[in-house]
Amino acid sequence: MKITTNSAEETMEFAKQLAKKFTPCTICLSGDLGAGKTTFTKGFALGLKIKENVTSPTFTIMNEYMGKDCKLRHFDMYRLSSADEAYELGFFEYFADKTNFNLVEWAENVPGLIPKPFVKISLKKVDEAKREICVEEIK
Ligand SMILES: Nc1ncnc2c1ncn2[C@@H]1O[C@H](COP(=O)(O)OP(=O)(O)OP(=O)(O)O)[C@@H](O)[C@H]1O
Ligand SMILES: [Mg+2]
Repeated sequence: MKITTNSAEETMEFAKQLAKKFTPCTICLSGDLGAGKTTFTKGFALGLKIKENVTSPTFTIMNEYMGKDCKLRHFDMYRLSSADEAYELGFFEYFADKTNFNLVEWAENVPGLIPKPFVKISLKKVDEAKREICVEEIK
């Protein structure tokens, strides 16, 4: 599935609707700096009825929120440089857990950490306000 959004609000709304449809899974968010991965996560959290303000876990690597029926874990692997580092932080078990959502920014930095199947959502900056968003299942 591929769509184009014209504002951060539209990306959040798209993510919110996906969150309402999806069952717990791991989602890898791919895209350059400023593409909208954290913005997408904010919208997804709204769809799970999370009231807290979702902020980028750049320094904590992972933030956890309690949703209506399950948790949302938001990872930012930007500061990691291998899957080993993520293993050392004890992240392995999170991805074996199929009862909560894991949303992962910069999964490219920890190759092999995230088991298939997972959902890959790619965000591409077309211009200042326009983003191409592609949703695919990686089996
Ligand atoms: N259509 C759009 N969708 C998403 N964000 C948009 C859109 N148009 C403009 N923006 C803006 O682009 C920025 C996206 O920033 P965001 O932090 O979500 O990116 P990111 O992919 O998480 O970056 P990083 O890799 O640094 O974590 C925000 O300032 C947002 O308001
Ligand atoms: Mg981000």
